[in-house]
Amino acid sequence: MTENPTDRERQGTKYTFGTGPEAASRLGEISKFFNPLAQAPIEEVVVDPPAVAVDLGCGPGFTTDMLSRSARPGETWGLDRSPAFLALARERFPHCRFIEHDVTTVPFPSRPDVMYARFVLSHLLEPVEIVRRWVGQLAVGGVLVVEEVEAVETDVEVFRRYLSTNEILVASQGARLFVGAELAGRDYGARVVLDDCPALPVADSQAATWFLPNTQTIWRENACVLERWSPREIEEISNALSELANSDDRRSRTVWKMRRIVLRRD
Ligand SMILES: C[S@@+](CC[C@H](N)C(=O)[O-])C[C@H]1O[C@@H](n2cnc3c(N)ncnc32)[C@H](O)[C@@H]1O
Repeated sequence: MTENPTDRERQGTKYTFGTGPEAASRLGEISKFFNPLAQAPIEEVVVDPPAVAVDLGCGPGFTTDMLSRSARPGETWGLDRSPAFLALARERFPHCRFIEHDVTTVPFPSRPDVMYARFVLSHLLEPVEIVRRWVGQLAVGGVLVVEEVEAVETDVEVFRRYLSTNEILVASQGARLFVGAELAGRDYGARVVLDDCPALPVADSQAATWFLPNTQTIWRENACVLERWSPREIEEISNALSELANSDDRRSRTVWKMRRIVLRRD
């Protein structure tokens, strides 16, 4: 593989779930749950405050802010290729610096001591090669923390429908929604500090809140989705999710399996 992305790789980098304000607020909701999970390994491996920490595929900046609070670097940068997300991030998190950059392309604008990436490899082709490329951008002694979903196990039928549709949607871009398993146990040319996969139960109402927005926005105009579901069926899925999102039912019938990998460049 070449050092920088081929045209085939670039095709996979269009963000499937939109970059509008609804998509940003959805990522904000998801961050409230997943950011605390990320903080622990970052605080454990980053002992001395680093000079520069970089969030790869930062979106509207919720992970960048989390990185800045956990690693306490001199400077925190967020890299993303969406100008819309970057504008929202700059407004909301002025203590971080946000730069438009395709994270499959190196060199990065700085050589970071700490890098973090969540839910971005699931949108990229050849994710293992991309992680190797990222490791090459670390300062010596620097760490890379990656978190991606390996599986979402659920008994809730409407969640199964939602997730299998999104899998197809992401696959239509050449990527893999549940990329976590593909990342586990690989040789990245760096020391593996952590490679685990905690199982996280999520309340039905919470999961429905995360799933609902896509069914109200991008699903309604995406050819892949419309091939699978009629507009009426999409409406039914959306209504079922809305009902669950607004219910007081505290049951958790869904488990997120999150692959976490921490690599150190010796
Ligand atoms: C699911 S969002 C995750 C955002 C953030 N990490 C979080 O967890 O809240 C994925 C982000 O990756 C960005 N992205 C996808 N491909 C990219 C690429 N090749 N270079 C830079 N950013 C990319 C998208 O624009 C989007 O903001």
